[in-house]
Amino acid sequence: MPQWLSTANYGAQQNTNLPADLPKAVRLCQRPLIKQICFLPLHLLATFRQPSTLIAPPGEKFIIMKDYLVYMSQAHMGFRRAELESLAEMHGFSVDLSGLSEKSPFFVVQLENDEQAAQLIRRSVLSRAIYELWGQGATLADLHADVKQRSSALISKYKQSTFKFDIVSYQGSRKSREQQLALINSFAFLAFEGKIKMKNPDQIFAILEAYSIVNQEPAPQPDYMYFGREVEVSERSRGVLERHEIAKRPYYGTTTFDAELALVSCNLAQTRAGQLIYDPFVGTGSFALAAAHYGAFAYGTDIDFRALKGKGPSRRLATNFEKYGTSHLFGDVLCMDFTHNAFRKNLLFDSIVCDPPYGVREGLKVCGTNREERFEGKEKIIIDGEYAYLRRDFIQPKKNYSLDLLLDDLLQFAAERLPVNGRLCFWMPVANDQDIPTLVPQHEKLQLVYNLVQEFNKWSRRLLVYAKRDANYKGTTITSQERGLQNDFRNRYFHRFK
Ligand SMILES: C[S@@+](CC[C@H](N)C(=O)[O-])C[C@H]1O[C@@H](n2cnc3c(N)ncnc32)[C@H](O)[C@@H]1O
Repeated sequence: MPQWLSTANYGAQQNTNLPADLPKAVRLCQRPLIKQICFLPLHLLATFRQPSTLIAPPGEKFIIMKDYLVYMSQAHMGFRRAELESLAEMHGFSVDLSGLSEKSPFFVVQLENDEQAAQLIRRSVLSRAIYELWGQGATLADLHADVKQRSSALISKYKQSTFKFDIVSYQGSRKSREQQLALINSFAFLAFEGKIKMKNPDQIFAILEAYSIVNQEPAPQPDYMYFGREVEVSERSRGVLERHEIAKRPYYGTTTFDAELALVSCNLAQTRAGQLIYDPFVGTGSFALAAAHYGAFAYGTDIDFRALKGKGPSRRLATNFEKYGTSHLFGDVLCMDFTHNAFRKNLLFDSIVCDPPYGVREGLKVCGTNREERFEGKEKIIIDGEYAYLRRDFIQPKKNYSLDLLLDDLLQFAAERLPVNGRLCFWMPVANDQDIPTLVPQHEKLQLVYNLVQEFNKWSRRLLVYAKRDANYKGTTITSQERGLQNDFRNRYFHRFK
């Protein structure tokens, strides 16, 4: 019998109650999850006296979970959990990420199978890879012992596969070739019979080590080691950050948003292939490009025609899409004041992702005037038989506006234009100079799912992620009035946060 009990065993045997002495992990099955999930790692199985008596209640199914090792990047630590949770939810499963910590890039999760593992990691930007866990231990001897115990059920499937070994050392010093070979050869007991193939092998087996830094040097021995079969590598490991480097784009500007965090934002927005995403403040198009990278159709608007026009025919938004081979996903961009929105009322967007104007590098203006009297009667002016305001050369008067009011408009728009569970993700700057808690904007139709902070010196910016909920949902409302225009980022920025 394989070491992992198969679901089929249980499916065949119904109508029996769970034994009372099951470990806690198995009891989780009794919770009304979307799927009945059973956390049943190998070491717990060993504690069962009679595993075959484990029978799913009528109409329910046990799914035996397997251990997988996730290898994270140590970048943007505060965003990593949210990215993985969002990707899991997008693929329709939940995952216990309690093992994720800032101390180590490695942690173990329980998942149903390789497909789920691949879904969790494939398009992640803040992780590196996921492995089927074959063993772990604080020393090489412990690791060998664990691999020997766990691998007997796993190995037969891969016995004849072509393969290679990778060594992943987190904070470790560089190993000589002899050291690498000695480490790899210490796993000779696995006795794979397939050929070693360095390019495109059927399987990659990895030895992963986490070292501490002592007196600014890597410790001589790793703190902990893992052995696993590579299931999937992430978007990051496939080089998305190098490809999306801003300086390599034909068109970018001072407001161009960080490429890595634009991709992360689209993961938190759960942007999927074939969806429509909208950036109301599109500028040079960082979020639109990131959304298209994940296969979504990207639409944008900007009040500033110059941003949309670009810097010439070969340096504009469309040429960025061409560079990434996503021209077919470039929906369109319109020159429009977001607060005077011209989209038809019933047009829905699957998600909205943006970086609203702070009013620092770019103007925060809306159509209109603060001096009504100056324009009184001007709507009647006719030039060459045409109302002046309908002519192509008409320049719309604009007035200053506040970021807080703009955010009220943005939440209202999202509440009206997102489908149920559609997400709004935007970045909000916060001055850190005053010791007051930040009240983030809220709308009763939108549930605040994440409030993530990226710290700078005297200010921070927050990635706020909201999900539109169904008609029965009534959440909190916090408008600019309640917030008392407390943030006033622009003013504080220009007074150097004094
Ligand atoms: C922070 S920038 C966004 C930059 C963009 N994410 C990029 O990667 O280039 C804000 C943009 O909002 C635009 N904007 C300002 N007020 C606006 C309004 N009322 N409606 C639409 N766009 C506006 C500005 O022209 C600017 O391009």
